[in-house]
Amino acid sequence: MNRFFSLMLTLLLLLSCAGCVGQAAAVPAPGDEAVPHPVDAETPQQPELSTDPAAPEQRPEPEEPAEPEELYVRVIDPAGPMVALTFDDGPNGVTSGKILDILEENHALATFFEVGRNVVAYPEPVKRMAEMGCEVASHSNAHRDLSKLKKSALLKDLDTADQAFLDAGVDAPTLVRPPYGAVNSTVKSSTGRAVITWTVDTLDWQSRDAQTVIDYVQGLGDLDGEIILMHSIYESTAEAVKVLVPWLQEQGYQLVTVTELMAYYYGELPQPDHFYGYTYFTTHGRTDTPAALPTPEPEETGEVQPDGAAPEADAAAESLPESVPPEEPAAPVQEPAPPASGEPAPVKAEAPKLPETAAAVPNPAVFCP
Ligand code: NI
Repeated sequence: MNRFFSLMLTLLLLLSCAGCVGQAAAVPAPGDEAVPHPVDAETPQQPELSTDPAAPEQRPEPEEPAEPEELYVRVIDPAGPMVALTFDDGPNGVTSGKILDILEENHALATFFEVGRNVVAYPEPVKRMAEMGCEVASHSNAHRDLSKLKKSALLKDLDTADQAFLDAGVDAPTLVRPPYGAVNSTVKSSTGRAVITWTVDTLDWQSRDAQTVIDYVQGLGDLDGEIILMHSIYESTAEAVKVLVPWLQEQGYQLVTVTELMAYYYGELPQPDHFYGYTYFTTHGRTDTPAALPTPEPEETGEVQPDGAAPEADAAAESLPESVPPEEPAAPVQEPAPPASGEPAPVKAEAPKLPETAAAVPNPAVFCP
């Protein structure tokens, strides 16, 4: 009997061990291929990347090739009609961006005469203007009547504005538009800057109505060579610009910066200590000999240029169209003689009246012209 029980016990042990082996077979040994657990099989798995390049089904999906960006090359025809849109009194945290959006959508440029202390408050639009190729110019630091300042205070104001531009990451402007268009002989010719006003005043600051501005500009007739004054701090102006920019282009006008207009239409670059106001624009017409725009100074690489010229040599002359003779000295601007009394008197003809409702202006310190 004992032998029988021993045999049975051995048999039972063997059977139970066979069950153990059967269960153990379901557990993957290290190195064995894993059998996915039913629950795990439904769990999204991150696709594993195979190191075997011959396993195409495991390769990551190639990304869709990006649409090639449409390349826009801006070309100005010096002989074609052109207009310079100008915006004073900004930058503004809202409306400057709206105007820049419109310009960008239409591949148009403009000139912004910015107030230094506004640049301190809103440096970003100024950086964007420069990046877009718009001209960033100065409208003084605090929008004071520059003709009423002593020369030292005048220069300090303009220098303070320049620092605001530099702090915003753009160059110090060489072009200044005096607030209210108010000038005297010191402002005109003793600041080391080129001083410029405008030829068309939309009075947008007065009407604050987009349709009024649109109707006025569209009713002016020939606009070739004009410098149009607007202000970048009004919603109504931004609305007018949305209509006027494409409309001007449909009329065939190239929208250029003030310096481009001066070079291509009037034939000279704005010169320091020169004043470009009513007299200048009414006595100068379209030139036959466009001036070359200044080219940015190349970074000093120490490398010899392909043509053997020094990096900064004749950069401007090389960019002249072939039909244009080498740069000639700018024609002297007819300047009225300074008053004999010594203390210069403001030129009232250039200074439009101030709005009577200045206190109601949202940004009271910065209203225009
Ligand atoms: Ni102004």
